[in-house]
Amino acid sequence: MRRPVIAGNWKMFKTRGEAVTFIEELKPRVANVTHCEVVVAPPFTALADAAQAAKGSGIGIAAQDVHWDAEGAHTGDVSPKMLLDAGCSHVIIGHSERRHDHGETDEEVNRKLKAALAAGLTPIVCVGETLEERESNQTQQVLQRQFQGGFAGLTPSEFSRIIMAYEPVWAIGTGRTATPEQAQESHAYLRELARAQFGEERAQAVRILYGGSVKPENIKGLMAQQDLDGALVGGASLKVGSFAGIIDYPAA
Ligand code: 13P
Repeated sequence: MRRPVIAGNWKMFKTRGEAVTFIEELKPRVANVTHCEVVVAPPFTALADAAQAAKGSGIGIAAQDVHWDAEGAHTGDVSPKMLLDAGCSHVIIGHSERRHDHGETDEEVNRKLKAALAAGLTPIVCVGETLEERESNQTQQVLQRQFQGGFAGLTPSEFSRIIMAYEPVWAIGTGRTATPEQAQESHAYLRELARAQFGEERAQAVRILYGGSVKPENIKGLMAQQDLDGALVGGASLKVGSFAGIIDYPAA
């Protein structure tokens, strides 16, 4: 049984105070939630305060990026050890905004992933095609390249500690969600890639989240898909009401 994960990616939103207020309001809303894991990803500056506020609540705290070195001359970067020190349990790696804004490659994703695993963090690794790639029928080719590059050299046991996220770039922040069938098709393909590289057991166990304009109104249809194990939510994770509405998908 794969335990679903509902994760909120706050991107470049919320000050420390706003993050703490959000977590304090979210805590009672998730106190009795057992059907899924709940994670939020504040910006670097708010991680420690958010982690402090979330203590004992079961809410996991994720960073939005990480460097592969433990320390060094890398201005502006943050290491796995620093994320642990701030109270993080998870880290998002390879988000399309980092791939596009910062030219992050599959090879860098792979280095970050290995460093995060070595430090004991749970990586949430993002893959997904652009609109142009989808329209030219390259979706599977792109997913295969990102999967094989991003997960190169991992052992099956390392792979079993990863959460994947399928985020079609054309669905991010556009209001244009993939249909449940489109999402399912890519999720099943990713699971097939996992099977080929890491074997049946690991492929069946890996959680694959969907991301791209997820809202309380569309989460139920997405979660009904066989290979969809949760969501990575951007815009709708910024308000407690809509994020809690997504977490409560069984009641939707
Ligand atoms: P939106 O939910 O705002 O489309 O963002 C999705 C996303 O990028 C989550 O990582």
